Formats: sequence, structure tokens, C-alpha cells
Amino acid sequence: MTTEKPMKVGIIGLGFGATEFIPSLEAQPEIEIYAGADLRPQALAEFEKRYGGKTYKTAEELCADPDVEAVWIATPNHLHAQNAIVAANAGKHINLRKPMGVTMAECAAVQEAVDRSGVKLLAGGQTQGSSPLTHEMRRIITSGELGPLRAMNVVAYTGWMLRPRMPQEVSDADGGGVVWRQAPHQLETTRYLGGGMVRSVRASTGNWRPERPNGTGYYSAMLDFEDGTPATLVYNSYGYFDSMDLTNWLTDKGHGGRAKFRAELLAGNVDEEARKETTRFGGSAEGTIVGGSEGRPWTPGNLGVLIASCESGDIRMSSAGMYIYDNNGMRDVAVHQPGGQGMTLSSEIMELYNAVRHDAPMLHDGRWGWATAEVQWAILESAKQRKEIMLQYQVPVPPGF
Ligand SMILES: NC(=O)c1ccc[n+]([C@@H]2O[C@H](COP(=O)([O-])OP(=O)(O)OC[C@H]3O[C@@H](n4cnc5c(N)ncnc54)[C@H](O)[C@@H]3O)[C@@H](O)[C@H]2O)c1
Repeated sequence: MTTEKPMKVGIIGLGFGATEFIPSLEAQPEIEIYAGADLRPQALAEFEKRYGGKTYKTAEELCADPDVEAVWIATPNHLHAQNAIVAANAGKHINLRKPMGVTMAECAAVQEAVDRSGVKLLAGGQTQGSSPLTHEMRRIITSGELGPLRAMNVVAYTGWMLRPRMPQEVSDADGGGVVWRQAPHQLETTRYLGGGMVRSVRASTGNWRPERPNGTGYYSAMLDFEDGTPATLVYNSYGYFDSMDLTNWLTDKGHGGRAKFRAELLAGNVDEEARKETTRFGGSAEGTIVGGSEGRPWTPGNLGVLIASCESGDIRMSSAGMYIYDNNGMRDVAVHQPGGQGMTLSSEIMELYNAVRHDAPMLHDGRWGWATAEVQWAILESAKQRKEIMLQYQVPVPPGF
């Protein structure tokens, strides 16, 4: 508990993404949900009803409110950089959902605005890379008990492409598709476990389904870290096989529903916006999609099945934590996930809060988020050019994280 006044937060973009972090903001006594901005009047009406809060149509209007101390930006990807620059110029601290920008120029412009105004920016949090499981994995790796990290392999098969989507979400050109939208879960996790510094990327991407013709739905990527550690990342979002079926405690029960939705998309008779609306802030299905009651078994989800190989052992997630395979055999180590196995966000809220109020150091600052966005950009670029892309904006995990 704190005796300080809560930080007054404004939320820009009250869509589905916002419903993932709003419960965590509500639960945090250090935070007051104070203002909301969205183009959709029904979201603003619900916001006023729920919080008695101030509402605005645009990021500019919300950022002109002198009482807003920090903003949480959850607008579509192609608006992230411009919203963040507006906020920085208005002196607001920022929690920017991934990615920081969808070009290196956008990331540079956000960083420049943040440096100039002196606000704190949290970029690149809110992924599986911030979960207690990933933190515990890093603790074991850096303790050296299994010897040095030698390789990481991650495989995700999900139905990401078969959820109701706005056009920009499934268009690479607008910051959509799996590389811009989903790769941060694998990249934040592997960059954090591997120390941050990726030297180069070689990748191939796939866009092979007619119901989603404009966006990348598949990638295979090989990251070569500065110290020589390789990470291979695979993501297939087309919703046939599900990597949940690779666990021995859960299977995917969504096969039938996905086949039906795919057929409807192919027939062109789905009102995707109306369906998506139900999942947004104030919608009839709000909060039903984000998993996470305490004690629920771990699911591969957006991250996929990850195996971290050290010189003298391997680590992978188990239903309640992680399996460690070493020279003594195999053991299951429980990891407590406060708030369950969904995205647990209080650590990220406190990362920004402590940076703002106590000048505490951050892992997920602008340069970290920019480095992750660079790997996303490099996956697409490598696939296009069919060659290895050398990186230049990487930063290491700072001491203490
Ligand atoms: N971490 C995750 O797993 C995860 C999950 C879902 C969404 N997200 C992120 O959340 C963001 C939004 O995605 P979403 O699924 O919530 O989409 P969405 O369409 O449901 O939400 C976007 C919201 O922004 C509003 N908006 C659009 N343009 C605006 C503008 N100019 N000014 C103010 N408001 C505006 C829309 O009306 C909508 O309410 C994306 O960056 C996405 O990557 C992340």
C-alpha cells in the first residue's frame, strides 16, 4: 500500500486490448482510472458510467487535460507512434502497447519526443515476456545452475487469424498480421531470456490463406544473439492445429468453431466489426476472452511452446510452472501467477509507476521497445529480401532485471 496520491491515468483506445489491462489498473491502489478517449461514443458512455471519468474523442483532447499524469495507449498499431508523440509533447508519461512503431522512423520519432520532453515511456511490456513464468526462467538461467544458455526454440500454432478483425489488424501495410501483432510475445520472451542483444535475423514469412489475403499469417525466424545463442521462432496463426495440443494437460476445443468461422469468412458473410464490438470495453463479451483465473493450467497461447536449452539442462513450461530437465532427471517447479495464467500486468503497471514517482530504472523503456520492433521489422525485411538482416538498435537487459 502507498500513502502517495494515486497516479491519474487516461486510456486512449477503449477497444478489446484495453479490456486486458483495465482489470489490473482497477486492482492497483496506486492508479486512478481518470479519463478515456475513443472515437466510439458507446465506449465513452460506458466509461463515464463505470468510473465517473472524463471522456474525450481524441488523443489530443485527452492529453490536453492537465490532470492526466500518464496515458495507456491501446489504439490500433498504426496510431501508436503518433499518439505517443502527442502524449510526450503534452508531458504525459506513457504506457504504449506493443509495437512502439511500425517503422524504424516511427520508433526514432517516439524516442526523440520522449527524450526531449523527459517523460517516462514503457514500451514493449504486456506480453508473455513479462509473465512470472518467464521471470522465473530467466532467474534459473542467470543463476548458472544449468550452465550457460545455449539455444531457445519456440513454436506457436494459434487461431489468431480466425478472430473477428478490423481490416488494419490483418494488413501488414497497416501494422497488422502476425509479425506486427503477435511476434512480440516470442520476441520479448526470447530477448529477455537471451540477454536482449540480437545480432541478426533470417526469416521467411507466409501469407497463404484466401480468407486473410493482406496480412502475414505465418513466420519462421532464426535469431542469432551477439553471444552466438540461436533462437528459432515459429508462428502459424491460421487456426488448424493448435500448439495447446502439444501439452499433456490441455487440448484445443476450438476446432469446430474455427472451421465454421473460416467458412463464413470465405463466403464473405461476416460482420467482423459487430462481432469484435462485443469483445471491446463495455461489450457483451467483455472479459470472457482473456483467460486467467488463479490456478488455471498454463496454456501455450500467444507465446507457444518454448524450450530453453542450457549446457546442462532444458526448461519448458508445465501446467503449474516449469519442468526442469537436468543431470538429476526431471522436476516440476511451481510458479505462482498472481491473477492467473492470463496476461498478468501488475508488474508492468508498477514498472511505470515506480519510474514516474521514484525514478526507478525500467527494463521496458523506449529503447527496449524499439529493439523489439526492430526484430519485427527485420523478420519482414529478411523474408522480403531472402537474406540475413543485421540489427543496429539492440539493447541489453539492464543489471537488476
Ligand atoms: N497483448 C495482446 O495480446 C493484445 C491483445 C489485443 C490487442 N492488443 C493491442 O491493442 C491495440 C488495439 O487492438 P484491439 O484489438 O483492442 O483493437 P480495437 O479495434 O478493439 O480497439 C482499438 C480502439 O481504438 C479506438 N480508436 C481507433 N482510432 C482512434 C483514434 N484516432 N482516437 C481514439 N480512439 C481510436 C477504436 O475505436 C477502438 O475502440 C493493438 O495495438 C493491439 O496490438 C494486444
